[in-house]
Amino acid sequence: MSTAAEVAQLDHRPDAPTQTTEFRLSRPLIVGPDTPEAPFPILLSGPVQKGFGRGGKELGCPTANLPDESITPISTVAKTGVYYGYAQVLPPTEGAEQFGPDDFKVQPMVMSLGWNPFYKNKQLTAEIHIMHEFKTDFYGFEMKSVVLGYIRPELDYTSREALIEDIEVDKKVALNSLQRPEYEKYSKDAHFE
Ligand SMILES: Cc1cc2nc3c(=O)[nH]c(=O)nc-3n(C[C@H](O)[C@H](O)[C@H](O)COP(=O)(O)O)c2cc1C
Repeated sequence: MSTAAEVAQLDHRPDAPTQTTEFRLSRPLIVGPDTPEAPFPILLSGPVQKGFGRGGKELGCPTANLPDESITPISTVAKTGVYYGYAQVLPPTEGAEQFGPDDFKVQPMVMSLGWNPFYKNKQLTAEIHIMHEFKTDFYGFEMKSVVLGYIRPELDYTSREALIEDIEVDKKVALNSLQRPEYEKYSKDAHFE
């Protein structure tokens, strides 16, 4: 469990360290113990919100933003940073035929909880990148997720390319870390439908 001092601060953007090449080169490709430990698993759900749209356009990494009410369950137990786990978008009551066969399945995800220091956001956000190619947007759809582990703190960047590179490493770390049986079993958790 995080200490009170470590939980995500809700009222202002704290300074974040700037990413360095040494950091990127020293990153482990699998993180966390072999079995998720408190505060994980953290279960989240809520309708997908629109962010600023930069994830898809500028970073090649579209994200589904959680509504403010859904951020509280994680921000009160966990610090800001990048996390991994599973997520599922639930089918809508109408219009599901525009989607692909796997779009509503449980998929691996990476989540950024924080202030996006590179973009100097004024609000804390929780954004989930689902590691699956969706055919179309799913704003407003219900999304469920299980957060299973912490990857790294959020950082400031001197270039967009460096942020993109770190996100690519985050995805690899997530996929490697989720391959362990005690993590993989959460893809079939009762939280999902
Ligand atoms: C896996 C992952 C890691 C991220 N790490 C950082 C980070 O260290 N620093 C940062 O400023 N933003 C980070 N971001 C957040 C991006 O800046 C954010 O997704 C982008 O601004 C798009 O937001 P938007 O859709 O609201 O425009 C990360 C996002 C993801 C998905």
